[in-house]
Amino acid sequence: MIQEALLEWFDGHHRVLPWRTDRTPYGTWISEAMLQQTRVVTVLDYYPRFLQAFPDPFALSQANEDTVLKLWEGLGYYSRARNLQRGAHYICEHFDGKLPSDPKLLQTIPGIGPYMAGAIASQAFNIPVPAVDGNCIRIYSRLHALPLVPTERSAYNEVYARVLQDIPSDNPGDFNEALMDLGATICTPKSPRCEICPLAASCSAMLLGKQTDFPLPKPKRIIPIEEHTILKVFVGNRVLVNKRPNKGLLAGLFEYVDLPGQLSSEEVVSWVHEHLPVQCAQDNHYDIRVLGHAHHIFTHLRWNILGYELHFSEDHFRDVELNSSLGMLVSEEECAQLAFPTALSAYHAASTTSFTHRPKSKNQS
Ligand code: ADE
Repeated sequence: MIQEALLEWFDGHHRVLPWRTDRTPYGTWISEAMLQQTRVVTVLDYYPRFLQAFPDPFALSQANEDTVLKLWEGLGYYSRARNLQRGAHYICEHFDGKLPSDPKLLQTIPGIGPYMAGAIASQAFNIPVPAVDGNCIRIYSRLHALPLVPTERSAYNEVYARVLQDIPSDNPGDFNEALMDLGATICTPKSPRCEICPLAASCSAMLLGKQTDFPLPKPKRIIPIEEHTILKVFVGNRVLVNKRPNKGLLAGLFEYVDLPGQLSSEEVVSWVHEHLPVQCAQDNHYDIRVLGHAHHIFTHLRWNILGYELHFSEDHFRDVELNSSLGMLVSEEECAQLAFPTALSAYHAASTTSFTHRPKSKNQS
């Protein structure tokens, strides 16, 4: 049995993390949501800020969605933030604002699946239930030299059954977290540090000298590529922003004008003439600056982005004729309060000043 060696190692080597020192069911839920797909070091800053802003399910449930998304800005996978808020509504409505301890009941809460239910039940309520994630599958695949494909359901089921046999009833939370820490610091995907592993003596893959042959590689996915042109349109000191729809990719976040394809500056000029209420006929004096290329990889999609910045003077822009489907003009202070996706961080942060094209005004030609 690996129990004793793992728990003894965890006693001496566990990472000191804020959600561990002041353990509550609510804090455990928030930290687990943040830690899905995100590294511990990143979460360290976000967790206390989020808990301070929304100290319990009632506060989260009543918060403005834009405020929640702003506090999540930079963590990515924003559906997690919206799910947390949906989950908070549900907890307030069905469980009087307190997370239940039963893993089955936990899974009735929007956004809580089997892994998170296991993590919350074991860590916050001492219930011996597995919390099987990718780390856990890697460790068990190596321990027992199991040729598992981590993304397959059968791998999950096999590892779940084995963890259920191993997990101690008196200390299940530490056992699950010890697996997490072991996976993050020792039994890592590419170069496991077997020489200091507390489970080395029990590890079949190590005895075979084939640690990195387990688990089997995930099948390679070909992810589609989308080309985007982002226009950061300034009118005086205001900038044009649009709130994305409440469903789908990056739902509810703010963005600049987002056009399909990668447009040349001439194409941008044509788009401007067609869609923006600018008095260009007599005087098309405005700046276009190239902000350059960026890319962002989502789980199932890659965006290749080309950004431009356009500057119009207040005098040349007829606000009242701005098509509301393009968004609204906000001051830079207002813009700073809005949550933008990480995918746009190259454009959302500092603008460049690389001047590339200024259509000549008729007077000059
Ligand atoms: N990753 C997911 N949950 C975690 C936890 N409780 N501690 C450390 N890393 C984690």
